[in-house]
Amino acid sequence: MKDNLFLWGVATSAFQLEGSPYADWSTWDSIFSLNPKVTNHYELYKEDIKIIKNLGVNAYRFSIEWSRIQPHEGYWNKEVVKHYQKIIDLLNENNIIPMVTIHHFTHPVWFITKYPWHKRSSIEKFTEYVERLLENIRGVDFWITFNEPYLLVLGGYIEGCIPPGYKDLNLAMKALRNIFICHGQIYDLIHIHNKKSMVSIAHNMAVFAPWFKWNPFDRLLAKVAKRFYNQSVIEGFMEGKIRLPVPFRKTIQIEVPIKGKLDFFGINYYTRVHMRFNPLRKLFIEFRHRDIDGHGLTDMGWEIYPRGLKKVLRYASNINVPLIITENGIATKDDSKKIKFIKSHIDTIENALQEGIDVRGYFYWSLIDNYEWLHGLDARFGLYRVDFRTYRRIPTKAAAFYSYVIKSRNFQRFFNSTKKEL
Ligand code: FCB
Repeated sequence: MKDNLFLWGVATSAFQLEGSPYADWSTWDSIFSLNPKVTNHYELYKEDIKIIKNLGVNAYRFSIEWSRIQPHEGYWNKEVVKHYQKIIDLLNENNIIPMVTIHHFTHPVWFITKYPWHKRSSIEKFTEYVERLLENIRGVDFWITFNEPYLLVLGGYIEGCIPPGYKDLNLAMKALRNIFICHGQIYDLIHIHNKKSMVSIAHNMAVFAPWFKWNPFDRLLAKVAKRFYNQSVIEGFMEGKIRLPVPFRKTIQIEVPIKGKLDFFGINYYTRVHMRFNPLRKLFIEFRHRDIDGHGLTDMGWEIYPRGLKKVLRYASNINVPLIITENGIATKDDSKKIKFIKSHIDTIENALQEGIDVRGYFYWSLIDNYEWLHGLDARFGLYRVDFRTYRRIPTKAAAFYSYVIKSRNFQRFFNSTKKEL
């Protein structure tokens, strides 16, 4: 990327801001019968790009809602594609770099019922869609193929708490493999369309610690969780093989054609998790968040643990491509808590940069309050508060603070000319 720019951004996803009557989540959660437009970003995008501009960020991560483009199998809505192109053009005109997420948790209903991820046919259907999308979209250099594929599979195929709602380890592994096959193919397609493009997934990383340090089983679980959740995907990109340790069972090995198919590594970081061995639970695992360092918990119940960001960055730096924090944020109605959260995490990034870790960007989640998957409309992540009745956007004090941070921290000074150009 030109000028070795540090990307200061905000992140959102289409469905969380604008809903979609054709997406699987619309029937999964009854909230959409009352709030089908969520924040009404679909109509208010110009106003939202204005507030993005006013924040002073130089990048914006958002997603394109597949189910609006292909509401029915075999149907293609050109107008919707034009709509997303307008957003991209407007961002570029305002010198805001677009980072586009192709898949952020939601699917058209027809796809997930007929071609769910565990079936081989999902690969063809999804790549067909992406190929056509790429033929029709211009002006994007930064792409995220999948947001949090592990969470998609853990939630949709093991816990069954998100669509498609299976609880089957075997199907889960098939789904994960097919998703990564898609990543590999899409990575190549994107590069065919735009040689300059930078492609990654956004991987959720967390710090894992034993619930009781004295308990060897808790310590073992924390170690296994770290290998499963953080490390296996890194190995996948480095070796083309994902090794998933399952507590007290044989490690699962999946061949994935993704070796080297990564131009930067997108990390979503939120919290630390404490693991406890509990023979009464599925796979003997119980976890919870504990406020150990006194930073408090968020409205999601997650521990605020800024130091953990350094840990995951240090850990991820093994992957040998630049790192971008594609999501980090807090759900709270308390502006000063939000400000403290942002400050402490950005201090941590500065610290990581001083240590020589190659971090190239930070995207705060989220620009405005939105629909939070399992928590509805009450998890207030936004720099701007949203009144879901009137769709008014009201700045929190954290918005001004984030603008100030962007102006006052010069992270580019850490990039010397010998570093690989992004
Ligand atoms: C991440 C998701 C994002 C948002 C945040 C709070 O796991 O990628 O859509 O819901 O959590």
